[in-house]
Amino acid sequence: MLLKLEKVSKSFYNPDGTPFTVIDNLDLEIEEGSFNAITGVSGSGKSTLLYLMGALLFPDSGDIYLDGVKLNSLNDSKLSHIRNEEMGFIFQNYNLIDGLSVYDNIILPQLIGDSKKVDFPFELCQRLGLEGKINTKVGLLSGGEKQRVAIIRAMVNNPKIIFADEPTGNLDKKNTQEVIELLHLLTKEYKTSIVMVTHDLDSTQYCHKVYELKDGKAIIKGEKSYDTGNSK
Ligand SMILES: Nc1ncnc2c1ncn2[C@@H]1O[C@H](COP(=O)(O)OP(=O)(O)O)[C@@H](O)[C@H]1O
Ligand SMILES: [Mg+2]
Repeated sequence: MLLKLEKVSKSFYNPDGTPFTVIDNLDLEIEEGSFNAITGVSGSGKSTLLYLMGALLFPDSGDIYLDGVKLNSLNDSKLSHIRNEEMGFIFQNYNLIDGLSVYDNIILPQLIGDSKKVDFPFELCQRLGLEGKINTKVGLLSGGEKQRVAIIRAMVNNPKIIFADEPTGNLDKKNTQEVIELLHLLTKEYKTSIVMVTHDLDSTQYCHKVYELKDGKAIIKGEKSYDTGNSK
């Protein structure tokens, strides 16, 4: 099992100081090379759950394991190393720097911190149809192109898992379909696991597992078999 959540709980506080539970004793497992969706109404805790999985937030109780390593017991420097080397993040608003080129947006995060130097992913740019835009400033790209740049940036270290928070939330129907097909391709060809938050059920067509987050728990809504190419 690639990622495992055991009895994870997370509460936040109201302005008057009373706590409210967002994630409640939740168990969840993400298999290697699988494409997973988390759906649920606005405010149900989808982003919170994703950030817990990506160790951007810590649980109040319970444990989160990536490849058997307990994330919630690691120090900051170990965690940022794991986030950099083994995880990729994709957001609704792309989180790119408009004034910089596609090339710089993809390669810059690699120059920060202790990560190993990586080669620029020309092949992936070609596959995602961006080979002609590598020196273009990101601010000049369409939304669909921006999200493709963000996907390449998330893939640059060949992570084990990508977390995507409403990656198609700002895209039209055609670009949504393209981005979903690209994410599907990453799971198939690069064996990258994906956890995608979405409130658009059409976007879950390729997902192996679809969960609904409700009352702090993840309820399985749909399941498809798949072949990850290994016996795990
Ligand atoms: N840092 C925070 N402090 C206090 N409340 C928060 C914080 N982050 C999220 N919340 C609250 O937790 C609930 C779930 O938020 P979120 O995970 O963003 O939901 P979703 O992504 O499903 O819309 C919401 O009521 C939100 O207002
Ligand atoms: Mg959210």
